[in-house]
Amino acid sequence: MASIPIPARTAETLPVRPLNILRDLPAVADLIEMCFSSTLDDEGQSYIQQMRRASRDDRFLRWAGQVVDSASLPMTGFVWEENGRIVGNASLVYNRYKHKKLALIANVATHPDFRRRGIGRTLTERAMSHARQKNIDEIWLHVRDDNATAIKIYSDLGFTQHAHRTTYIAKPDSLLPQTSNGLTVTRPQPRDWPLQRAWLEQAHPDELGWYNRWDWNQLAPGLWNWLYRFFIEFDIRQWAVHKENGELLATLSWMSTVRASDALWAAAKPGDGSAGLRYALEAARRELGHHRKLTLEYPADEMVEAIQSAGFSALRTLVWMRATA
Ligand SMILES: CC(C)(COP(=O)(O)OP(=O)(O)OC[C@H]1O[C@@H](n2cnc3c(N)ncnc32)[C@H](O)[C@@H]1OP(=O)(O)O)[C@@H](O)C(=O)NCCC(=O)NCCS
Repeated sequence: MASIPIPARTAETLPVRPLNILRDLPAVADLIEMCFSSTLDDEGQSYIQQMRRASRDDRFLRWAGQVVDSASLPMTGFVWEENGRIVGNASLVYNRYKHKKLALIANVATHPDFRRRGIGRTLTERAMSHARQKNIDEIWLHVRDDNATAIKIYSDLGFTQHAHRTTYIAKPDSLLPQTSNGLTVTRPQPRDWPLQRAWLEQAHPDELGWYNRWDWNQLAPGLWNWLYRFFIEFDIRQWAVHKENGELLATLSWMSTVRASDALWAAAKPGDGSAGLRYALEAARRELGHHRKLTLEYPADEMVEAIQSAGFSALRTLVWMRATA
């Protein structure tokens, strides 16, 4: 029997199209929720809810409908549609940071029934070319360190690994005991600031600052900063741990956020700051007893024992990958 040749799909005939933010958000939210269900935390859930809310928000949709350049939208990207059903997605978020134009590729997801056909790779490639046409300087993405399939796709497409960062989580505990080991915990003193700032910059590199939007100046000592925080009701608490001889070992800062959990920012002396960091983390867990869950992000493989001994458990490790334009 003669076989009927099936025409191969060329790049032009692939069922890939730009995301239509006016129509596609509910289907994309469903796809992302299903594909990331095993790893979705509170923040991920609230992100998906925001997407669904936006899809019903007339004011947002009216505004989005008038935007001419898709790079000005809060999210753009590409979808793969088979018989009217969205089965693949790659989102693009454009950003600016310190004179650089950046693009973040996120939510790369293929429906389980359609995997290993090149959909994830093709959508990521399309997102990369869109970003390149917009003359951006760098393209970033992050992926869990145990997601070998995705890491392989991104590496093949030219992304290189730049940072591995672990997010830890703990509950506040006002009854937590604390052993001092000859260390003292106080509020940071103005003389601690140069070291605190240097260690913060080391643990939280500026190349990722565009994502977390950390601004260390807010933590600096001084009357103006205090007054500023007082008037905008921005709550910050800080701890500094010193040895008996006055040497600074670690600092920790807590800032009130609107997120599902409260973030702590740690800075420890490289090498022997671990006892100090543990002590500061325990102090924070005790003092913030009435607050929500606490999260801490730190370079993976650094200070792990200190952080876990203070009662924090690792939630995930993300690999940050970058491709140049
Ligand atoms: C990661 C994910 C998006 C990959 O989607 P996908 O459409 O299956 O990806 P691709 O088909 O492009 O590539 C996946 C694998 O299929 C292989 N492949 C691609 N085309 C193929 C084909 N025609 N036949 C056989 N294998 C194929 C690729 O080489 C790759 O294999 P490898 O892992 O051995 O390198 C998908 O698994 C997913 O949605 N996972 C859950 C969400 C997630 O983790 N997203 C990434 C977050 S950063």
